[in-house]
Amino acid sequence: MDDQVNHLTPAHPAHGNDSGAELYARAEADRKAFWAAQARRLHWDEPWQHVLDWSRPPIARWFDGGRLNVAYNCVDRHVEAGYGDQVAVHWVGEPGDTRDITYRDLHRMVQQAANALAGLGLRAGDRVAIQLPMIPEAIVAMLACARLGLVHSVVFAGFSPAALRARVDDARARVVVTADGQYRRGRAVPMKEKVDEALVDADSVERVIVVRRVGADLDDDTPWQNGRDIWWHDLLRDASDHHDAESFDAEHPLFILYTSGTTGKPKGILHTSGGYLTQAAYTHRIVFDHRPGSDVYWCTADIGWITGHTYLVYGPLANRTTQVVYEGTPNVPHEGRHWEIIQRYRVSLYYTAPTLIRTFMKWGEQIPARYDLSSLRVLGSVGEPINPEAWLWYHQHVGGGRSPIVDTWWQTETGAIMVAPLPGLRAPKPGAAQRPLPGIGAKVVDDEGRQVSPGASGYLVIDSPWPAMARGIWGDDERFRTTYWDRFAAHDDYFAGDGARYDTDGDIWILGRTDDVMNVSGHRLSTAEIESALVAHPAVAEAAVVGASDALTGQRVIGFVVARGEADPPTADDLRRYVAEAIGPIATPREIHSVPELPKTRSGKIVRRLLRDIADGREPSETTTLADPAVITDIAQRFGPRTDA
Ligand code: WT7
Repeated sequence: MDDQVNHLTPAHPAHGNDSGAELYARAEADRKAFWAAQARRLHWDEPWQHVLDWSRPPIARWFDGGRLNVAYNCVDRHVEAGYGDQVAVHWVGEPGDTRDITYRDLHRMVQQAANALAGLGLRAGDRVAIQLPMIPEAIVAMLACARLGLVHSVVFAGFSPAALRARVDDARARVVVTADGQYRRGRAVPMKEKVDEALVDADSVERVIVVRRVGADLDDDTPWQNGRDIWWHDLLRDASDHHDAESFDAEHPLFILYTSGTTGKPKGILHTSGGYLTQAAYTHRIVFDHRPGSDVYWCTADIGWITGHTYLVYGPLANRTTQVVYEGTPNVPHEGRHWEIIQRYRVSLYYTAPTLIRTFMKWGEQIPARYDLSSLRVLGSVGEPINPEAWLWYHQHVGGGRSPIVDTWWQTETGAIMVAPLPGLRAPKPGAAQRPLPGIGAKVVDDEGRQVSPGASGYLVIDSPWPAMARGIWGDDERFRTTYWDRFAAHDDYFAGDGARYDTDGDIWILGRTDDVMNVSGHRLSTAEIESALVAHPAVAEAAVVGASDALTGQRVIGFVVARGEADPPTADDLRRYVAEAIGPIATPREIHSVPELPKTRSGKIVRRLLRDIADGREPSETTTLADPAVITDIAQRFGPRTDA
């Protein structure tokens, strides 16, 4: 690998207003002053009294006493500064329809939507659930909430009705915003009827607002509940397009986003306003070296994930970005769709996930080669460790051997990028996230929380509070503490759940999760959540789920089930359907194996590590802790040798 790295383009100086090296030095000298300087790039209606109040860890208060409006910062101020005609969003629909939305257009839409939501009686602090495809209205709905101080909870459009319902109930959402349907792989599929199914007897929900996206492309009429349901276009038509943005406390909640953990219940990660927006804008600016007015940026994430929140909505819009938003799948109508879009809009900054890069590799380098990708300047990667092969392919066949690649490590909980190289500042290392960003204290520690030496591995921790950090788990501050802060409490460090190592230069390489959390195509899935869906099946007594290595998706979900005494073992398809209904198609196990028993310790704990060995085609290691080692030998025999791992 080293040979391949050496011929890569040498580092070129970072652009923008700050030189990268200077940023590190300034942040190092005075971290609070550094973050205050970043926050001052936003518009504040009232200044803060304290940059950071860390007197009640683990809940930080950043820019305490300061007041701002997040939507004003993302939209109005750009229009007021004379950039109303700049395109904010080049939207590309899956069927090929397009819309160019300027900052002035966005301003009008957000004001209308804010007036419409206010007209429904929603007040600051109320929760609004949003389940929408990747259409401009999704961004408008989020910004309208932010403008009114409403807390949005965006639910990925691929999540099942049961998963939506759990999120609506947990946050007690008063309003749900959805669409009649969405385009998926060239077909219009209904959404509203699924939302109706989710909301049966959901007593917190007063209104359902429905965006018409697919209209007559659906076979059936959109089901309607009079008195509750309203079309988005009807609601906005009657709303004024003038709305004065009120200012909110820096710590006013901005959104809840649910993510999977090690238990069956998703965690509602809470983010607030001033610190979050500060770090979202700062990281988007320095990591991508974004220059407003000349760059065209494209983040391929869905708004249903944190990447969509921070790098498709808040960060880019705060920085007056012109960006592409694409509704559909990358191979509809053909496998060159992304390259065609980059060529058409002259995209200069492109941010995507390793799993997609590996998919592009599979489709072949001849596909990007047909397009003019010379506009690309910086490439980003997020969601899982990028393997060196994918890194090199991305560098060469997408970046033309020129564009630096920024491998960005962060999480739903961190709110924004934490560890990433600054473009062009250091010699590239395929597969390494390299350094904590200026202002961020991340390190690799051993079991006792002591920093490990170069060349050694351990756990990735964050050793000082950062502006975009989560402010808790919705309704469960105790779980927030035990999940992230108890492990290294002696040092007050945040434990991210990832393993990592330093190389001999002191650069950080992320090794992946150390807990029972899987990463499939850059999406976080919980073994416990899928197991609880499986055991809900009447014919299943016990279930264990593991993530096996997968060349394309990073990991793939493998389930092991023990059937109930008398019952016929359920079919794998039946069980897969169960999981799809409980969570969504992304969580369905690729394989499900019926076994007589699960490997357990003497105290009855399932040893997933051994099942993972088998799923990966390895000899099961260290079986001495098992109550009955014969169980794993038996499973290994049933499994047989594997060649596809
Ligand atoms: C987990 C967070 C961050 C937005 C997308 C996922 C893994 C994320 C990287 C990276 C290696 C990465 C970690 C992390 N991860 N980025 N660049 N290199 N691993 O957000 O769903 O909150 O998942 O994704 O394991 O803990 P998320």
